[in-house]
Amino acid sequence: MASRHLAKEQPKTFAFSAEGEKQVKYWLKKYPKGKQRSAVIPMLWIAQKDHGGWVPEAAMRVIGDRLDMAYIRVLEVATFYTMFNLKPVGKHLIQVCGTTPCMLRGSGDLIKVCQSRIGSAGSISADGNFSWAEVECLGACVNAPMVQVSNSDGDLYYEDLDEASMNALLDELASGKAPIPGPRVDRVTSAPTGESITLTDASLFDGSRAKKLKKIPNAPAKTKKAAAPKKAAPKAKSATGKGGK
Ligand code: FES
Repeated sequence: MASRHLAKEQPKTFAFSAEGEKQVKYWLKKYPKGKQRSAVIPMLWIAQKDHGGWVPEAAMRVIGDRLDMAYIRVLEVATFYTMFNLKPVGKHLIQVCGTTPCMLRGSGDLIKVCQSRIGSAGSISADGNFSWAEVECLGACVNAPMVQVSNSDGDLYYEDLDEASMNALLDELASGKAPIPGPRVDRVTSAPTGESITLTDASLFDGSRAKKLKKIPNAPAKTKKAAAPKKAAPKAKSATGKGGK
């Protein structure tokens, strides 16, 4: 768990960027009148993106003023959710999932790479490029072990990593490339690695095994059509040839 203390060095002021301000207005409009405080989490997130990946105390005060909230309430939210960084981070923040599936699949090796190339968790590499943290499950367990990289490109997942591919990922980021997110092994998203080895019989899918249904189960019972009314017999013509009335 990352430290949840505020950074000692803090900027005196904070202001949302023009783009950030646009997003703030969008979120404030989203909630019914009088419920604008619900925008505290999106506003903290926008402030973090506007401030190079971390939320300074001045931003929490600005948000408190905008939402008419006590500063301590904003601080409670910011310190509770670990997605908010309370002190400066590197240009690329590497978040290594250390929860059980990733741990069993080798997240310890990824952590060792971070420790040897970046330093201890929470520290920033000498070139300012990297910092890292161990985080809880990021919901990509099927592609374990994985990391989330947060930078100016967004918050992207890199999956199916090992020591070599983790080093390669850091090399790509350090050289200014924008690595393609997703698995780092031969598979598409979470499909099997390499060729499929199960459910390969085409007849399972082409309909050739299907038997003709005699009747559709649970179909509503057929109702008999109501008999059509009998047509009245035409009246016989009178001797004058005029129809009688
Ligand atoms: S355990 Fe790592 S993504 Fe779920």
